Amino acid sequence: MLIPRPRSRADGTGSFTLDERTRVTADPAAEPVAQYLQQVLRASTRLPLLGAAGATDVPVIALRIAADPDDLPAGPGGDRSEAFRLEVTAAGVVVTGGGPAGVFYGVQTLLQLLPADVYRRGRVRTDGWTLPVTVVEDAPAFAWRGVMLDVARHFRTKAEVLRLVDQLAAHRINRLHFHLTEDQGWRIEITKYPRLTEVGSWRTESQVGAHVPDDDGTLRVAGKDGRPHGGSYTQDDVREIVAYAADRFVTVVPEIETPGHVRAALAAYPELGVHPDRQLDVWTEWGIAHDVLNAEERTVQFFRDVLDEVIALFPSEYVGIGGDECPKDQWEDDPRTQERIRELGLEDEEQLQAWIVGQLAAHVESHGRRAFGWDEILEGGTLSPSATVVSWRGLQGAVTAARRGHDVISTPDDQVYLDYRQSDLPNEPIPVSIVLTVDDVYAFDPVPAELTEAERAHVIGGQANMWTEHVDSVRRLDYQLFPRVVALSEALWSADVTGPRDVDDFRQRLEHHLARLDALGVEYRHGSGPRPWEERPGVPGRPQTRAERAAYIDAVTANIADGGPTP
Ligand code: ACM
Repeated sequence: MLIPRPRSRADGTGSFTLDERTRVTADPAAEPVAQYLQQVLRASTRLPLLGAAGATDVPVIALRIAADPDDLPAGPGGDRSEAFRLEVTAAGVVVTGGGPAGVFYGVQTLLQLLPADVYRRGRVRTDGWTLPVTVVEDAPAFAWRGVMLDVARHFRTKAEVLRLVDQLAAHRINRLHFHLTEDQGWRIEITKYPRLTEVGSWRTESQVGAHVPDDDGTLRVAGKDGRPHGGSYTQDDVREIVAYAADRFVTVVPEIETPGHVRAALAAYPELGVHPDRQLDVWTEWGIAHDVLNAEERTVQFFRDVLDEVIALFPSEYVGIGGDECPKDQWEDDPRTQERIRELGLEDEEQLQAWIVGQLAAHVESHGRRAFGWDEILEGGTLSPSATVVSWRGLQGAVTAARRGHDVISTPDDQVYLDYRQSDLPNEPIPVSIVLTVDDVYAFDPVPAELTEAERAHVIGGQANMWTEHVDSVRRLDYQLFPRVVALSEALWSADVTGPRDVDDFRQRLEHHLARLDALGVEYRHGSGPRPWEERPGVPGRPQTRAERAAYIDAVTANIADGGPTP
């Protein structure tokens, strides 16, 4: 019962059982994977699983890099670095990867062939570590298989992030998009600007629940908790997270929000804002703050400096510069900003937003990296083709970006926003937006149907987004993520490569997979609905129908809906 569904599996007869004699051997490039496998297996089996040096005639788990990767199935664009073959015979196991990542994914399949207790961190059984004789061959459908975690609305500790990395790696998610800055918090130490975390990493209290409409329809904050909330990562914490994730073939992709969603930075450095005389607090409400960056050269330079430190910490090819939901009213009303628009030879506030984004994207690229931003970066029409667009307001951004020649990461809110409610049950905790079930996520296809073959090649993959306004604990995080991330895993790894999706077959395999999540200690949402302690009685959500949501998204994407080349 493998998840994700492999390209091929051929079972034989017989089995191989791990015991005191079993050794682990690896090609040099696969040595880190051997260490990972030994660590996982030793914890749960207490078997020695020593290296094979000097040993003859012993059963071996061999981890190899393919001499000829063409023997393995082809992944996206013909890439085989993540492809593998796992062969279990009565005599031993051979995992052959197109590269170390492929070996790692072969090892994940090996673990799934063992009893679910292999995911425990201590021994609960002394025998039964038996694998069926089989050959599994596999490769992913998409190169970018991501989950975004918002650690700004609610901070998650370093230990909790490392735990999430383990969960993602077990599901072959290979990108953790780390949403580090927001109106409500700044989470990463920047040595040049210490107030970003000294001031920006905590707020005095937090809004509880969603906004609720007044009698006249005006949305208002229902309540606040009166309790400080905060936290941040030191640069060493970041290095540790990056290294731990790299050992599990997860690339941590940082994102620094600009030119909106910056109120925590403005609380720390008011001179970055349109109204430097206003002392703002780190925002204690949810939503989109109106306080945005000013467009002075020194403000752009401040964020170049921030990006320099971020780029030094994160080896990721991609670096996020935000770009979403930037209100324009402060710019419209501010004489200096209007003067700045004229100074820069721009026409309007949309072009000003595009100019700021363009400056920071160029800076990222000057370091040999690639910039990515939310689909609003298409607005203004001046985006450099080298920027990558994250399509979140449905797939309109993906269509327009691919047609304009940008690479695309798809994360359509109506398919993979994991903050959205999981059912229409009245006791769903703080239910927001539309219902997104496990089956809905299972159906996720990052490639818009209307694209041509050439345009499709721009879609490098997809990701699910975990916004955390209402996710204030790691237990609630588990509840929102799982089992929907299991469905995401299969949607991005297997997609339709092995034939049409079969949701009934997936559900059966998922049922079996839940024992693995139990062993890992993941508090996934049960199919029957929230358990009493998962409810949030009395805390308002803001559910929407699909029609309401679609009308909103159509309205806000009208200015990028041309679908044609840059105007
Ligand atoms: C977003 O959901 N504001 C990208």
